[in-house]
Amino acid sequence: MKVVSIVGARPNFVKLAAVEPLFSRNFDHVIIHTGQHYDYELSKAHFKQLRIPEPDYSLGVGSGTHGYQVGEMIKLIESTLLREEPELVVVYGDTNSTLAGALAAVKAGFKVAHIEAGLRSFDMSMPEEVNRRVVDHVSWLLFAPTETALENLKRESVLGEAYLVGDVHVDVLNKWVDEAERYSRIIEELELKHEEYVLVTIHRVENVENTERLKEIVEGLLTISAKVVFPAHPRTIKALKRIGLLKELKERENFIIIKPLGYLDFIKLLNHAWRVVTDSGGVQREAYLLGVPCVVLRSRTEWTELVKSGWILLLGTELIRLGALLDSLEPPEKRPPILGDGKAAERITKVILKKLTVR
Ligand code: UD1
Repeated sequence: MKVVSIVGARPNFVKLAAVEPLFSRNFDHVIIHTGQHYDYELSKAHFKQLRIPEPDYSLGVGSGTHGYQVGEMIKLIESTLLREEPELVVVYGDTNSTLAGALAAVKAGFKVAHIEAGLRSFDMSMPEEVNRRVVDHVSWLLFAPTETALENLKRESVLGEAYLVGDVHVDVLNKWVDEAERYSRIIEELELKHEEYVLVTIHRVENVENTERLKEIVEGLLTISAKVVFPAHPRTIKALKRIGLLKELKERENFIIIKPLGYLDFIKLLNHAWRVVTDSGGVQREAYLLGVPCVVLRSRTEWTELVKSGWILLLGTELIRLGALLDSLEPPEKRPPILGDGKAAERITKVILKKLTVR
């Protein structure tokens, strides 16, 4: 049974890492990398640190407008799928590579499985929300990470079959957190101390590409008195340079701005942080799983359960309150297993095996 996985951007790789060992054991597993992310830190570092085999196809699409990027990907994915003729095409998360993979597959007559189906932020200005909605409606098998995600799929009456499997990020974190502790030297390299710094990541279009918004975010970050470690996405660096604020941040004594990190280094940095400030969906979950109080610089999130748990706080406006807010965070003792039990990949593989065998 041949299964093709389509990935292209950093969060896709982390999800692929959860299922890849099981897929390789049970299927003839082919990996297509669209090339949406191409910098070493955003792409190869994750394959290396998470020991994912090299992609079978690297399509090299690169950056561009959404229309250009998705269009180029669809053309190249289609011809690759026609050559490979898989029984199933698996797409991950909500990036442009996920959308292109699902559309190319379904248009060429292949069945699609979507890992991380049913998430909704109800904000159509986010490119990821558009991607998720389209992908869920063309998929045959939909793997939902949470109850809420499953309910969203039912409410929208998707035609495919939806399964609640848990979040694959739990599987990956459980597998690699000890290894990250043992092998990563990032804390020593940056001369950091346990729970004495705030980890910051910002890369969402709505935060980075709007000058006023980005200025507000920088003002907010400057209210933090603790040490700040900021692994910055290349898009964020470019935007900060454009608005003339990169130099100011770099010159701040308590700021350390570094390149994006591979998975193990990032997880270690997160595990030892006092607080985390982010706009990433993946980092919100990892912070919860590792018990690091987290402020999300957005007004909405698709991870509503995490906000209800009291561990994740949304800060969409009045960013000037950020520093004080970080000081006042007091999350509850308990962190219920909202994201599942770390066996999502096993459940996904079982469903696929069953569905492909009985057809
Ligand atoms: C993409 C995903 C987002 C995900 C994020 C993780 C979409 C719509 N967005 O956003 O959901 O959270 O990845 O990082 O798919 N660039 C580089 N080097 C690279 C890749 C990109 O410098 O290797 C720069 C380019 O200027 C590019 C910009 O970053 O134009 C944006 O890249 P793109 O892949 O379009 O979106 P991300 O912001 O990375």
